[in-house]
Amino acid sequence: MESRWADELAFATNLAARAGELLRASYERVERIDRKSPRDVVTEVDYASEKLAIDAIRGRFPDDAILAEESGHHERVGAAHGSANGRTWVVDPLDGTVNYANGIPYFCVSVALVDGDHPAVGVIYDPLRDDCYQATADGQATLNGHSAHAGTKDALGDFVVSMAIIGRGGIGRERAIARKIRIHRRMGSAALSLAYVASGRFDAFVQNGGLSLWDVAAAGLVVERAGGTVTDLSGRGWWDAGRSNASVSIVAAPQPHHGTLLQLLTAAGTTVRTRR
Ligand code: IPD
Ligand code: CA
Ligand code: CA
Repeated sequence: MESRWADELAFATNLAARAGELLRASYERVERIDRKSPRDVVTEVDYASEKLAIDAIRGRFPDDAILAEESGHHERVGAAHGSANGRTWVVDPLDGTVNYANGIPYFCVSVALVDGDHPAVGVIYDPLRDDCYQATADGQATLNGHSAHAGTKDALGDFVVSMAIIGRGGIGRERAIARKIRIHRRMGSAALSLAYVASGRFDAFVQNGGLSLWDVAAAGLVVERAGGTVTDLSGRGWWDAGRSNASVSIVAAPQPHHGTLLQLLTAAGTTVRTRR
């Protein structure tokens, strides 16, 4: 059965491929890196990729709202963000900018369409591997056209987890999980790492804050449609269009181990608070 969002998925896939081509063409040729904050940078390629995305969306779906990292909201900001038709395209034109600017080959383009109160379409494109993760809310996630499934490992002790733990108490939380799994990695592109959970390349993804809607809109849906369980740090729904920038947390894992990871994070958080 064809997806209700087949046209939007095809559009998002084509858009992510074109933006990805732009990223690939300029990789290791970045001329301008600006500081956004003491720890954050932005390149001319972020802006060029975002412009490509915005122009394409405006041309094809002029009534839809757009939320894009470098320029924020655009007109017709919709229901979730104030728009008339309830549809908002959420775009991260380059996730993993620090990697990209440093020549580390781990970054992606993320394009999602949110319809009403949940993402309906999600595409993550890794231009260096030519890997394309796709999902719609009414179908199975895919990687390069083949069904993608979250991992099926029995033992948490075998898990390879993409983990970015930030803020106060971070070390305690990180240790609490590290003791129970095989190894953790901090990759520098949340969207791509989250998408990896959809194909079992990572067994789980944990980031306890610092994320924004554009980091998770597409990849969260991809993991969900690959059979993974995705929540925020407190176990509630991962998608909340009202969240402010850098306030989103994600725990994504196959269902049998998702609760354990949440418990470990919460318990470690409590321990740290009690000690202070
Ligand atoms: C960042 C990356 C990073 C995550 C940060 C994001 P950017 O996005 O996804 O892995 O830890 O929270 O802001 O700035 O490279 O698009
Ligand atoms: Ca990002
Ligand atoms: Ca970005």
